[in-house]
Amino acid sequence: MIRFSNVSKRYPSMTRPAVDGLSLDVEEGQTCVFVGPSGCGKTTTLKMINRIFEPSSGKIYVNGRDALSQDQDQLRQGIGYVIQKTGLFPHYTVFENVATVPRLLGWDEKRVAVRVRELLQLVGLDPDENVSKYPRELSGGQSQRVGVARAMAADPPVMLMDEPFGAVDPITRTQLQNEFLTLQQKVRKTICFVTHDIDEAIKMGDRIAIMNNGRLVQYDTPENLLLAPADEFVAQFIGSDRSLKVLSLLPLPKVLKRQFRVVRESAELQTVRASFDRSERNRLIVEDDHSNVVGYVTRSDAEKAGSARGWNRFIKPFPATLPPEATLRDALAVMLQHDVGAVPVMESSHTFMGMVYLDDIRSYVGEAYQEREPEQTVEAPS
Ligand SMILES: Nc1ncnc2c1ncn2[C@@H]1O[C@H](COP(=O)(O)OP(=O)(O)OP(=O)(O)O)[C@@H](O)[C@H]1O
Ligand SMILES: [Mg+2]
Repeated sequence: MIRFSNVSKRYPSMTRPAVDGLSLDVEEGQTCVFVGPSGCGKTTTLKMINRIFEPSSGKIYVNGRDALSQDQDQLRQGIGYVIQKTGLFPHYTVFENVATVPRLLGWDEKRVAVRVRELLQLVGLDPDENVSKYPRELSGGQSQRVGVARAMAADPPVMLMDEPFGAVDPITRTQLQNEFLTLQQKVRKTICFVTHDIDEAIKMGDRIAIMNNGRLVQYDTPENLLLAPADEFVAQFIGSDRSLKVLSLLPLPKVLKRQFRVVRESAELQTVRASFDRSERNRLIVEDDHSNVVGYVTRSDAEKAGSARGWNRFIKPFPATLPPEATLRDALAVMLQHDVGAVPVMESSHTFMGMVYLDDIRSYVGEAYQEREPEQTVEAPS
């Protein structure tokens, strides 16, 4: 959907190109995050997509067509732009800011009004409370929401977002990021997103383009980036805690042990013993008569029970459980918090899905690193 082919941008005042030989593809419906230190060329890269700047050399294709050969107005109508530091028009109300592009497109005022309210709602602002405010009457987070609403107004298939959540506190930022991810699941735009925060890049990006001094250093999925940084610069940029960061990208099902012996709490000791005999493990999952998991019993405890039913007083509840959508990072956190080496995964609160073991997490992450040992990434800058 968006293709950079050997694109460079030189400003007369600079000795090196601001963007230097950039080649990459952003697939339709995906979010590509450009990340890198200040001055590395992120904003320049975005501004060449909607032709605020023209490349000095190379080509950019939007929807398969050379951007420079398309009518400039038409090209821009298909591209929403969230400007660094929001860039709201200070003398326009919130309503007028969001209505800018639809009005330019000649929509009738009734349709504009419906759209503006719908968008404000979409980005989590109460329309009644906010339409007639001026940008100076908004908080940082509210301004950024209006900036996103304005960029989405004419429902463009492509969005360029330049540090859209830059100027807010960490809590609002997390909230805006989460809302944005939910929204993007629904609308599936092709997005070029700029940040200099690597954690934001990892969270938001389907792919991440790491830039340094105008050059693309690595273009990869967040997972590959963390597991196999292309060079020392990338490794430093993503931080020494990258093995912890990668845990939050790895889903539980990869290490879930689903094969488990289950006994009813009403079973006779004989049945429990037989189950242990058929199992290599030292624990059995215990269910009630409605197949709800109530806890577990250990082999040694079950052996202590003298009478047929007496074993079930040794049933222990799990100290913690995890939902199936949890990540390995969540699993590790729960294990550390409760000082256990295994945690059950439960769908809703009672349907047992399997166990996650600390050892399995360790070997899974270790293998993930090993698999990516060979080089497989873009060339490093010379
Ligand atoms: N209009 C311009 N004229 C001349 N030089 C420019 C212009 N715009 C940007 N530059 C220079 O080009 C380089 C890249 O700037 P750019 O704005 O693309 O960086 P950035 O990665 O977006 O940085 P930041 O994270 O600080 O926003 C910088 O050295 C900057 O000084
Ligand atoms: Mg910038």
